[in-house]
Amino acid sequence: MTNKATVTAPSNIAFIKYWGARDLAQAVPMNASISMTLTECVSRSTVAFSDGSDRPDRIELVGDDGSLTPPPPSFRERALAHLDRVRRWARRDGSFHVATRNSFPTGAGIASSASGFAALTLASTKALGLTLSTSELSDLARMSGSGSAARSVLGGYVEWSPAGEGAGHAVAIAPASHWDLRDVIALVDHGEKDVSSLDGHRLAASSPHFEARQRILPERLAIVRRAIEDRDLDALGPVLEEEAIELHLIAMSSKPPIFYWKPGTIQVLERLRGMRREGLFAWATMDAGANVHVICTPQAEAPVIAALTGLSGVSSVLLDGVGEGPRGEREHLF
Ligand code: PMV
Repeated sequence: MTNKATVTAPSNIAFIKYWGARDLAQAVPMNASISMTLTECVSRSTVAFSDGSDRPDRIELVGDDGSLTPPPPSFRERALAHLDRVRRWARRDGSFHVATRNSFPTGAGIASSASGFAALTLASTKALGLTLSTSELSDLARMSGSGSAARSVLGGYVEWSPAGEGAGHAVAIAPASHWDLRDVIALVDHGEKDVSSLDGHRLAASSPHFEARQRILPERLAIVRRAIEDRDLDALGPVLEEEAIELHLIAMSSKPPIFYWKPGTIQVLERLRGMRREGLFAWATMDAGANVHVICTPQAEAPVIAALTGLSGVSSVLLDGVGEGPRGEREHLF
């Protein structure tokens, strides 16, 4: 018998970043992180599970025109390992067929691994007929090796804190309806990044600044939690930018150094400073990539778009904002 399920899972943008792991294979983080789940940048996965079949698992990427292509080897390997993990968790024999589609450029610092592995986890467990709690799903998604996927199984504002030496799991700290924040994503580079976030985590502790970061984080986490609770962008914004710059400082000072920024990254950061001097408040954050996520209120969104699209280093902008989290779909990709 074959069972099929399709799930759309969003990406998320971290306000406090997961950077550095105790156990990289299982994504056991060194520090807690807080993110906002997005709504437009999503991965949709259809997973079919054929009971008892011994065919090898099959994974395909669906292009914009509906064409099917094999995924890049790095994703394929991790996805196959993850399907195996899910099968073992369910104690079932059989084979998976997966088709997955991203609504945004893959590997360009828009956390395609978060939405991709969240969608794969949710659709594969659903195809197996499992009913798992959100904590179990968050746990399972994290074990893919993409820690940020642990946060993408939930909507709104999400915190993922390690429990002692263990990984812990993500919990929602406020629903999307609590605070309508927008994320204007300035695309300064469409290409795949040169160094994966996995390598970034691996090298993080080699930076002389990594330990100092661990000492600063508890206070920063508290400010971000409170700013979300109070819907206070004036309190959140400066900490957002400080945190993102620190992630890149650690990357740039790792041994060997990792440099994600492009000229367009600096242009956007400079423009935002100028805008704030003119009284328009919007703040930047970046993941392990060159693109800049500009966090602002709905009122500031249009002027932010206008300012960013005028920059020579920005090829286009994607409009996103806080979202409700993953959802099941009736329509399958195959
Ligand atoms: O989920 P990973 O292993 O790709 O790591 C995510 C790293 C950052 O996106 C830079 C930060 C974060 O917390 O999302």
